Amino acid sequence: MDKRIKTGIPGLDSLTDGGFIQNCVYLLTGETGTGKTLFGCQYIWQGLQKGEKGVYISMEESPQDIRADALVFGWDFEKYEKKGLLKILYHDPVQVDKLGTAIQNEVMNLKANRLVLDSTAAMGLAIDDKSIIRRRIASLVNTVKRHKQCTTLIITEIPEGSKSLSRFGVEEFVADGIVVLNYLGMGDDTARSLQIRKMRRTGHGMDVYPFSISKKGVAIKKGGL
Ligand SMILES: Nc1ncnc2c1ncn2[C@@H]1O[C@H](COP(=O)(O)OP(=O)(O)OP(=O)(O)O)[C@@H](O)[C@H]1O
Ligand SMILES: [Mg+2]
Repeated sequence: MDKRIKTGIPGLDSLTDGGFIQNCVYLLTGETGTGKTLFGCQYIWQGLQKGEKGVYISMEESPQDIRADALVFGWDFEKYEKKGLLKILYHDPVQVDKLGTAIQNEVMNLKANRLVLDSTAAMGLAIDDKSIIRRRIASLVNTVKRHKQCTTLIITEIPEGSKSLSRFGVEEFVADGIVVLNYLGMGDDTARSLQIRKMRRTGHGMDVYPFSISKKGVAIKKGGL
């Protein structure tokens, strides 16, 4: 039986047979401002509440900004960093060749249970050749899978108006599951929605599920559309 890791996103685990599968790699994608970083922080925070250690590697925002973003929701990351249960670090996307080693070291040193990489979109800033980036992403996935206790969330982005699911078109193939966040921009109750596009070894909900962002973070609304 696969061990399930609760995402901590209210309403999501019941749509996915109890959550993510331990040691799998999930892709969280969507256009800009859809709540991906927030989802990633919530995933890490919920793990910490269960005694699961986390690593958050940001290639966009600084660790200070990530801490400040999380604190708005009452998630005091610094407390856990001081206890050695959480590591938040910035990785310069220009040094994408060193990312695999950085991930390997951090996850190994902390024996992390949850890893978030935010986001692959930044990799394009340093390297023009997409085939190199694709190979790097595929190799990253292999690296994190060597750590059996670790369940990974890779954030990517859907270029505005694009039909693709990720920035480099490889992320969706190497991931075991894909969650897509949408924002319709209508400002009403149904403006934000979530879709599960793939989830290996899991029967999952097929609908488009409206979700909200409130003081408590991301939550799927009951009842569906
Ligand atoms: N306290 C809050 N209450 C309600 N909504 C919020 C709150 N904080 C953030 N949001 C919403 O979440 C959005 C930002 O979420 P987040 O930074 O996670 O998005 P993202 O998908 O990571 O964006 P990017 O592509 O820029 O990295 C904001 O644009 C805002 O709409
Ligand atoms: Mg973000």
